[in-house]
Amino acid sequence: MSLRGAILKLKPYTAGKPINEVKREFGLKEVIKLASNENPLGCSPLVCEVIKGLAGQVNLYPDSSNFDLKNELAKELNVEPEMLFLGTGSDSIIRAICSVFIDPGDESIMGEISFQRYEDNTKIMGGNVIKVPMKNYKLDVEKMVQSITDKTKVLWFCSPNNPTGPIIKRQELLSVIDKIPKSVILVMDEAYYEYVDDPEYPQTINLLEKYPNVIILRTFSKAYGLAGLRVGYGIANENIAKYINSVIGPFDVNLIAQSAAIAALKDKEFLRKVVKLNKESREYFYYEFSKMGLEYIESQANFVMVNLKVDDKIVFNELLKRGVIVRPGYLFEMPGWLRVSTGTMEQNEKFILALKDVLNGMR
Ligand SMILES: Cc1ncc(COP(=O)(O)O)c(C=O)c1O
Repeated sequence: MSLRGAILKLKPYTAGKPINEVKREFGLKEVIKLASNENPLGCSPLVCEVIKGLAGQVNLYPDSSNFDLKNELAKELNVEPEMLFLGTGSDSIIRAICSVFIDPGDESIMGEISFQRYEDNTKIMGGNVIKVPMKNYKLDVEKMVQSITDKTKVLWFCSPNNPTGPIIKRQELLSVIDKIPKSVILVMDEAYYEYVDDPEYPQTINLLEKYPNVIILRTFSKAYGLAGLRVGYGIANENIAKYINSVIGPFDVNLIAQSAAIAALKDKEFLRKVVKLNKESREYFYYEFSKMGLEYIESQANFVMVNLKVDDKIVFNELLKRGVIVRPGYLFEMPGWLRVSTGTMEQNEKFILALKDVLNGMR
């Protein structure tokens, strides 16, 4: 066997611990997972109906052109369908971007504390990742742009940034975007777009005409609650879209996922409910963390990072014993911190109670 050298350098992705695994390990009946930024309200009832109706059609291949979903999305976003590309979650589009733009020895630039899949997929292509230190837990977009060299092919702007939570504001983006050579692809990863309520969040679709090197990524996994179905999409100019579509597998978005995503787009009421609960949950966490004297990072997404100032691995394990799964900060090079996804209010309260119990036991 002769493995490519690039593959030997990969570090495996640590996903959130599954609920059933924790139930088995700790002999628990009730476990809540606030670890993977999933939607605590499930998905729209319209989506459930569509899924049930399709059970008898899974012998058929899906539409490889994603015709209906692309058209619905194009209407929703006010773009041409030719500007869209769909994948098995936006994760697979990150992979596609790397396979289109990164040759061995090329570089991509990301924040030091940002989404790990940018690094993994750059490395799979034999590229190198340049990680730029954060500025107060935000992406330092100025330093990121200053770090561009002749080898740079892709810049990853994650907004809101996972795992820290802040966005890149309009003025910040506009102050650097003209300094990015058109030969460098700027990826605006907006996986948490629907949750943002900061009026200074830039509507990046408006930039696509002037900046042909911009790619926007969004997903149905978060606010739409379809993480298990795996549908994500990208928006870019038609030329980029054509190349990205050429590396995405013809049937990567399955038959159920295509119709479910269309139904999800139609249920605006469900989306409003999700966004409202998320805002209330973030505020509840801020309030409780403040009362406990814990530092936290204000988030525009559906998770909050909190500084426990104690060993996060111990807290993580103690929370597991109490039936609560979160993400320990050491996984993100933020030891002493935890990332908690917003849940239902009942789940949020269960987490806070368990956290208080664990921290009291450690003092
Ligand atoms: C910033 C960011 N981008 C992309 C993804 C990938 O999401 P999906 O593949 O489910 O669309 C995630 C998932 O956590 C994320 O946090």
